[in-house]
Amino acid sequence: MSARAAAAVTLADFGSLSTERLIVRALEESDLPDLLAVNGDAETTRFLPYATWQHLDDARAWLARMRGIEAGGTALQLVVEQRSDGRVIGTVLLFKWDATSARVELGYVLARSHWGQGLMHEALRGVCARLFGALAVRRIEAEVDVANTASHQLLLRLGFAVEGRLRQRWVVRDRCYDVHLYGLLATDPSPDFKS
Ligand SMILES: CC(C)(COP(=O)(O)OP(=O)(O)OC[C@H]1O[C@@H](n2cnc3c(N)ncnc32)[C@H](O)[C@@H]1OP(=O)(O)O)[C@@H](O)C(=O)NCCC(=O)NCCS
Repeated sequence: MSARAAAAVTLADFGSLSTERLIVRALEESDLPDLLAVNGDAETTRFLPYATWQHLDDARAWLARMRGIEAGGTALQLVVEQRSDGRVIGTVLLFKWDATSARVELGYVLARSHWGQGLMHEALRGVCARLFGALAVRRIEAEVDVANTASHQLLLRLGFAVEGRLRQRWVVRDRCYDVHLYGLLATDPSPDFKS
């Protein structure tokens, strides 16, 4: 796709996708009770830049914030739904969308009860394939707390490279921490979803 055609693509073109066990689709207000169960767990939010949710009001405030960011055209909040029972078990955020550079950043969260089953790997495989395909993205980025081993392993298995360490990048809940910057290019020989 030419640079001009790529610039015409928007995040709204992402649509939804199905994998073996999951559906990845746009966030709806009716997802909030399920997402309260995900983000109401302090172990799950340990590495995330927001406080653990306590009430549905926290979920509503988050929805309003996400809708505001989405309105600017630089972000799309997706949810991860389990096909077996329709329950929403996680989220994937596409943000810092730069159409000219065909670049986007990823954020993701999964309910603790579902960790370690390869589910986020399955979801992100589909998301990255869609981004590189229909959305003609050139580069996908992620910033991860250097202590977040599960996220590190997940990105490496997807073919991301660690491109550097950003020292004292964030202060969240009075904790200052370094992150690794990860990058995956459409032209990288990703072992997982382009072979
Ligand atoms: C990061 C997260 C999404 C991973 O989801 P998941 O579905 O459990 O991940 P997967 O099962 O697809 O794979 C995770 C990898 O990390 C490994 N892993 C999982 N938990 C781990 C842990 N506590 N310590 C070390 N490795 C771990 C898995 O073995 C797997 O590695 P492998 O591919 O080499 O076998 C999930 O742990 C999560 O939601 N964490 C809290 C939110 C968060 O930190 N989000 C990322 C912010 S950057």
